[in-house]
Amino acid sequence: MQSTNSELNQREKIPTHIYESADEACQVVASAIAELIRDREAEGKPTVLGLATGSTPVRLYRELIRMHQEEALSFANVVTFNLDEYYGLDGDHPESYRRFMRDQLFDHVDLKPENTHVPDGRVEREAAYASCHAYEQAITDAGGIDIQILGIGRTGHIGFNEPGSGPETLTRLVTLDSLTRRDAARDFLGEANVPRHAITMGVGTILAARQVFLLAWGEGKASVIARTVEGAPTEAIPATFLQRHANCRFCIDRAAAGQLTRISCPWLVGPVDWTPEMTRKAVLWLAGKTGKSLLKLIDEDYTENGMADLLTERGRAYDVNIDLFNITQHTITGWPGGKPGADDSNRPERADPFPKRSLVLSPEPLDDVYSMGGTLNRLTTQGHLLTVAYQTTGNLAVPDEDVRGAIELMIELADGGQSGTDNSFARLVERQLEAKGSFGADTAEIRHLKGLIRRSEARASARTLGVSNDRLHFMDLPFYEKGRYRRFVAEDADVAAMRALLDSLKPHQIFATGYGHDPLSVPALCFDILCRALKECSHADWVQDCIIWLYRGPGQEWETHEIDMAVPLSPDEFENKIQGIYQHQSQRSQSAGTAEKKTHNTWDLAHQINQATAATYDALGLADYEAIECFKRWAPAH
Ligand code: F6R
Repeated sequence: MQSTNSELNQREKIPTHIYESADEACQVVASAIAELIRDREAEGKPTVLGLATGSTPVRLYRELIRMHQEEALSFANVVTFNLDEYYGLDGDHPESYRRFMRDQLFDHVDLKPENTHVPDGRVEREAAYASCHAYEQAITDAGGIDIQILGIGRTGHIGFNEPGSGPETLTRLVTLDSLTRRDAARDFLGEANVPRHAITMGVGTILAARQVFLLAWGEGKASVIARTVEGAPTEAIPATFLQRHANCRFCIDRAAAGQLTRISCPWLVGPVDWTPEMTRKAVLWLAGKTGKSLLKLIDEDYTENGMADLLTERGRAYDVNIDLFNITQHTITGWPGGKPGADDSNRPERADPFPKRSLVLSPEPLDDVYSMGGTLNRLTTQGHLLTVAYQTTGNLAVPDEDVRGAIELMIELADGGQSGTDNSFARLVERQLEAKGSFGADTAEIRHLKGLIRRSEARASARTLGVSNDRLHFMDLPFYEKGRYRRFVAEDADVAAMRALLDSLKPHQIFATGYGHDPLSVPALCFDILCRALKECSHADWVQDCIIWLYRGPGQEWETHEIDMAVPLSPDEFENKIQGIYQHQSQRSQSAGTAEKKTHNTWDLAHQINQATAATYDALGLADYEAIECFKRWAPAH
């Protein structure tokens, strides 16, 4: 989907192409790169690529590797310059960008090692300026960058040009923004381990490239993409300076495009087809914009906000308001599994069959409780046959400190003769922890123990919510055990495990998450695995009869117009859910300290979860609840 009409071009100051998936976008960009490489090769000239790291370009690199292997695309004549490197890390550190590039691209194609350039993260501070200058010179000597690939940070950074970076900046040593460090915390197994500084090409270096492609996936990027594409150029969002580039294109997926005006409020940029979905989206937006409850919107509110033609089609504001009030009212239910024996014509879930076989899929332990702890409790107490399946162990998110605590306990029990086992396993893990240091990869034994810690937390949490432990199923999907965050690859074995679970349970309803996430995140991979498994069994009778409800994580709850089922929680139920969240002790703040930091930690956000949705329903003139858990109904495309 491409921006065409002039109204759009006024708002969107950078050509932005929206693709159905990250894979589709990556194929387009990889083809552009391949074409240039081949053209240059034919002219006997090298191609100079500017490369990025992080989750975003991984699929692009996989596509380039595929082209190398299957289509004889050669990189022998290619020179590369990476955008940035963490300061203080040498090239072998597992999180260094030099190492990342070797793992994700360099080692899989015929690039000459001497043609690859990554800023030196180990340069002495006094020598940093000269080293950065030499990096700029090397780019110039190579003839300048032909194609620059970029991701974008939630701060609006490109490279590591954080807010405050001007358009003339060149390669230099910079301080990382606190949001950027938080976003990297999982990769470094804790925010405290994330370097504070980096060496990055400047905005000016990037703008000097002849062509720029910026890629972005997932709803987490939607806000910064909209501000970059539609906002005024500002140092507060360095990516906005790309508006000045004559040959820059954004290639993004639908989720990352979600806050562009043409997607979020298309009636503001041109005529729209007033389908029921579009009407719902627009009227709920109008209520938010005017600060009015639904039943108080008047004709002028509609006409002054680009929605006059809706009234032409539908009559007075009064009629549209009532309609929307009823639709929204009917999303509310205290019976997420359906209310047996009740008229269900205006309820989100069917009354029959009862009880339902309800399957809740949680990518890691905690995702379930966080987003739908109250619903878990209701499904159980209302007599449904609930299964909570934890798709991965989540062991990578357990701090070493928690393992040390567990080891001490095991050693004390063994040495006191109470556990009936010797202490050899605990001592082995103790030695392995010592040997790996802060950044080494966890051994199989350490990961096993970390996984057990998360299991015991999941059980404690479920007990708090009234869900008995025999309803919990730990899938331990293999993809997770083989990888690191942002580098996972889902395989057939994962799909087979999911398929086996579905075949054995034949659920009437499935609660899942991961739709619209960054495609390399654990929830997105788990969702993809579910989709593939559902596709395989799409002809089974139970699939025809199964409703899929999507939930979302904290801070990313569904917008009101997207909610098909809203499950309200009383103050007591809400408090109980929070206690359930707090059973996940290994997920507590690892950066406990300042109040500012605490407000950004998901564990510490527990008290805020689900309250924004409740406040919105109240503001729309519906009932005033303590909290609301919300779900969107989803049908897989077969
Ligand atoms: C990486 C880089 C950064 C990332 C950005 C997005 O070399 O320069 O600007 O592109 O932080 O990171 P991901 O892709 O991990 O979301």
